[in-house]
Amino acid sequence: MQILVVGGTGWLGGTVVRAALERGHEVAALSRGRSGRPADGVVALTADRDHAEDLGRALAGRRFDAVVDTSGYTVAGARSTAEHLADVGAYAYVSSLNAYRDFPPGPVTGTDGPTWDEESDEYGPMKAASERVLGAALDGRLLVARAGLIIGPGDPTGRLGWWLRRMQRGGRVVVPAESRDVPVAFVDVRDLAGWLVGSVEAGRSGAVNATGDAGMTTYGGLLDLCRDVVGDDAAEPVRFVERDDAALLAAGVQEWTDLPFWLPVAQARTLWRVDTTTARAAGLPSRPVERSVRDLWAWLRERPAGADVAGAGRARPPVGLPDDVERALLGPAGR
Ligand SMILES: NC(=O)c1ccc[n+]([C@@H]2O[C@H](COP(=O)([O-])OP(=O)(O)OC[C@H]3O[C@@H](n4cnc5c(N)ncnc54)[C@H](OP(=O)(O)O)[C@@H]3O)[C@@H](O)[C@H]2O)c1
Repeated sequence: MQILVVGGTGWLGGTVVRAALERGHEVAALSRGRSGRPADGVVALTADRDHAEDLGRALAGRRFDAVVDTSGYTVAGARSTAEHLADVGAYAYVSSLNAYRDFPPGPVTGTDGPTWDEESDEYGPMKAASERVLGAALDGRLLVARAGLIIGPGDPTGRLGWWLRRMQRGGRVVVPAESRDVPVAFVDVRDLAGWLVGSVEAGRSGAVNATGDAGMTTYGGLLDLCRDVVGDDAAEPVRFVERDDAALLAAGVQEWTDLPFWLPVAQARTLWRVDTTTARAAGLPSRPVERSVRDLWAWLRERPAGADVAGAGRARPPVGLPDDVERALLGPAGR
């Protein structure tokens, strides 16, 4: 097949490109050219998809059997691909669980829960509006993958990477006490990418909550895994220092970003509860979290700290506990 990967130089997009090449497809990757070059053997197309004329110029004279769209960040960008690529046989759009009006805090109980209905470039409403724009143009040939939290090697968000780096520094590490037993769920970037390619091959359509099943590990289990995977790479032995939600909030810890993936326990209990029936029925694989974490660490340990959070294409919010907040939470040694 001739497959166009929109955003094929990004993290997920680059992984989709590799999966498509491995499966013998002819692949083109479209980006603005800010986040590097696509893999060898791939046709590089340069355009800003937010501008329909620019996109039209880059696509002139080309036809594709399928599109995997990993770079939907504006409704205008969905409109322009709807305008220029609506003749493809299959179009997979990477949306987000944030397309649901009730997420966060969730739970997400199926794929037909209410999505945002206003038109806006706020992340969740933007994904929902983009789904509608593409759905109207593709007429039964659109697959919407509402992705959950993506993890794995190459992760440019620095979220799970921060925890691994923190374990590498070792010593006393602040961890949330109350979320320890909360079941969590992720999707590995390679599982999602390979499945997206298989889905356009199969002409799969409809909407899927594209993540793993809650309970593949717990929040505490994830942190144990990070500590164990870093293992002997740690500068000194890791000792977890548990702090409850009230103490974290009082110290000014920002939810979700300062201690990546941490939310006060009442929200955390619903956030990860996502019905993945359609994903499992559609064959989305879900490898053990341990493999994702091990492979991310193998990727990170080859890089100097800080070099792994790629800001190439777009700004990413900073993650990690500021040193002064960590010191205040840890208090005197021995506690
Ligand atoms: N990370 C998660 O946990 C998560 C969860 C749910 C959903 N998602 C979704 O997953 C998708 C992939 O995320 P990612 O982190 O892999 O993205 P990424 O690394 O930021 O890659 C984005 C790609 O899109 C290209 N791009 C961005 N804006 C563009 C534009 N206006 N015109 C043309 N190309 C453009 C970028 O290249 P240039 O910068 O060179 O243009 C790059 O190739 C996104 O749609 C995101 O919303 C992610």
